[in-house]
Amino acid sequence: MGDRVEELLGELTLDEKVSLLGGEDWWHIPAVPRLGIGSVKVSDGPAGVRGAEHSGGPHSASFPCGTALAATWDVELIERVGAALAAELDSKGAHVILAPTVNLHRSPLAGRSFECFSEDPFLSARLAVAYINGVQRSGKGATVKHLVANDSEHERMTISSEVPERALRELYLLPFEAAVREAGVWCVMTAYNRVAGTYCSESTDLITDILRDEWGFDGLVMSDWYGTHSTAPATLAGLDLEMPGPPENRGPALRAAVDSGEVPTSVLDDRVRAVLQLAARAGVLEAGAAERPTERYDHDLGRIALLREAAASGIVLLQNDPVDGRPVLPLVGTALDRVAVIGPTAALPSIEGGGSAHVSAPYAVSPVEGLAAALPGVEVVHEPGASIRRGATTIDTTWAATEGGRPGLSVRYFAGDEPAGSPVRDEVVTSSLFRWFPGLDPAGPGAPWSVEVTADFTAAFDGLHTFSVRSADRVRLWVSDEVADAWSPEPGERGTVSVAVELRAGESVPLRLHTARVDQGPDVWGQVDMRVLEPVPGDLADRAVAAASAADVAVVVVGLDSSWETEGRDRTDLSLPGGQVDLVRRVVAANPRTVVVVNAGAPVEMGWVDDVPAVLQAWYLGQETGNALADVLLGVVDAGGRLPTTIPHHLADIPAQAHYPGADGQVHYGEGLLVGYRGFDELGIDARYPFGHGLSYTAFEHGAVSLSTPTVGPGGTVEVSLPVTNVGGRAGDQVVQVYVSDVEASVPRPPKELKGFVRLHLEPAETGVASVTLDERSFAFWDPEAHGWTAEPGEFEVLVGTSATEIVGRASLRWEAPAS
Ligand code: BGC
Repeated sequence: MGDRVEELLGELTLDEKVSLLGGEDWWHIPAVPRLGIGSVKVSDGPAGVRGAEHSGGPHSASFPCGTALAATWDVELIERVGAALAAELDSKGAHVILAPTVNLHRSPLAGRSFECFSEDPFLSARLAVAYINGVQRSGKGATVKHLVANDSEHERMTISSEVPERALRELYLLPFEAAVREAGVWCVMTAYNRVAGTYCSESTDLITDILRDEWGFDGLVMSDWYGTHSTAPATLAGLDLEMPGPPENRGPALRAAVDSGEVPTSVLDDRVRAVLQLAARAGVLEAGAAERPTERYDHDLGRIALLREAAASGIVLLQNDPVDGRPVLPLVGTALDRVAVIGPTAALPSIEGGGSAHVSAPYAVSPVEGLAAALPGVEVVHEPGASIRRGATTIDTTWAATEGGRPGLSVRYFAGDEPAGSPVRDEVVTSSLFRWFPGLDPAGPGAPWSVEVTADFTAAFDGLHTFSVRSADRVRLWVSDEVADAWSPEPGERGTVSVAVELRAGESVPLRLHTARVDQGPDVWGQVDMRVLEPVPGDLADRAVAAASAADVAVVVVGLDSSWETEGRDRTDLSLPGGQVDLVRRVVAANPRTVVVVNAGAPVEMGWVDDVPAVLQAWYLGQETGNALADVLLGVVDAGGRLPTTIPHHLADIPAQAHYPGADGQVHYGEGLLVGYRGFDELGIDARYPFGHGLSYTAFEHGAVSLSTPTVGPGGTVEVSLPVTNVGGRAGDQVVQVYVSDVEASVPRPPKELKGFVRLHLEPAETGVASVTLDERSFAFWDPEAHGWTAEPGEFEVLVGTSATEIVGRASLRWEAPAS
């Protein structure tokens, strides 16, 4: 492989070399047919493989989000998820997934928290390695992103993250380091932001010194989409590929920089070598001008079973108090006649966060549907109880338990600037947010095209409904016979159109939208956003309370959705919007047997938990949401998830919050190492639910901690073991967490840090041994002066816990200096 890469380097012309260093379109690296070099295709990531289109195209399996996967604490499962993603890549004709996202939960407000695994770098690293191994052992590639300190969306394209060196090394870079050193990740995506004033995409420190020279990265470095800001500096710093294409800073600009000597040909060759190497790994180095495979969706039952298993494994039972002497969960189907499933996302489920992590799921099983299927003979009633719609919302028809279960929006593409005659292509999509990436070209390369979208909208509530369309393109909207027009040829005269109609609940109206892509230029992507502002009736909560009081148990699904948690925008607080807190309080007052399910990708404020017996954190669980939730609610599987992130009482308790979101183009990571539980420990702040917390339906007894050696030194390892016995009446899962504390540290260190964990599955009366190996890095800190990792001689304490605050065993050991 290496030989062929070198041979090709000798055969490529200068222009061909330059062409390989910028995307061909949004997802492809250019081919060089003359030399048989095929095109590598990349695809988002991380909760599925979307394929080339944002709005249309075949469906994609929708996986649990990053926090949900992390909450499984199950590396074996995550590796199987990675293998399933490789199969999804295959179905989309793609070679490389743009995932996993391993930025840390510095602040829960960060719009992409749901996409990232954890506040803890060690947990993130283990899961990233498992995810990447799963993908890459199946012959596809992964892209660890976004390098680095891309921990919020505030001014995300420009902000400079000012991170103290130790925090950068010990926290933010650590998952990347593991992805490179341990999993041999094929690609790294640089972050949009700057670090210490320099754009990540042109940081020699990050890309060349740390990633390549120190960690030995031998793969490809690409920029985030439109995150390349220069030609020579980025190329010299080590950025191989500008994405997407056609490139702005490569192409002729790079050719000129090579001609002028600003970019030496040896550097150019290094960049090209990385692209060829990726093509070799992807198996397209000699693929030639092979026809690009058409994308498809595989309705694979094995993969669907895995989606359900993974989703259920990440649900965290936060509390489960008794009512009338018995814990509320698991629900016992035979004891139930009627269940009220309440909440704004109970029937219209929130299955994913927003932004580039979106996939078009083939279906979405709602909590109502999942419970109804799992409880035959039990009456399952539903009331939304509240609305979390954030103003006008897109029309989303994914909400059906089976593929094709509800009609979608019909989209027909036409050649020319008016949708007329015979369509050149047609499809059915599930969302009224249309993003058309360059290269779609339904009418042929560069030719103008137009679209007609039709759909029937059925009102959920009585009242005034305002339909609107926003776009930079020409648009025209009909709602029944009413029309609103922005078809002007003058770009400035386009914009938002809207039509308001009175509807009664259950009444349907036909919608028709026309748009045309005529004068935007081939490189500009189109966005047409059709929304509806629905009335919110005043009696939603009253009706929910009535349903709850007439039921044996009330399951209240509260939370957020992709309009609240999304790439591009941080939250402004941790509240549950739309009167959901009031809903919870009123429902539990009406029926003490109430379970609250929090359907949000990141922590929300939970001031109400003391009134509620049972609470689950259910994240965004993908298309199998309702089935997975029913599995846990009914105890078909144990509640085995554990929090990968601290749930605070209040936003202000988060140590980083004092420095968030930054000012004057900079965000100072002033909390340093005190991110997540490290900060709660150090500052003595009580968490609502600590990192690592989660209850099981069974009970465990923990034996004494034993260490394989009381002293360890350079090159050595120590095995930490602890027996765990299932002393309850049913099978269950325990997650044993091993933290290390540097008792005699000469530098400030967090009170303890996670360095190992095991998820054990135990049958009743079974004893298993949780065993974790610690090595030098488990004891070390980053020493800026020595520019390396240092484990200081002296005493360390090993703390074994079932959360960051439930420590069930301890042992001391000494780290010994090397004999001099
Ligand atoms: C995101 C990346 C994503 C890329 C391609 C960017 O906006 O930050 O995570 O992979 O778009 O969709």
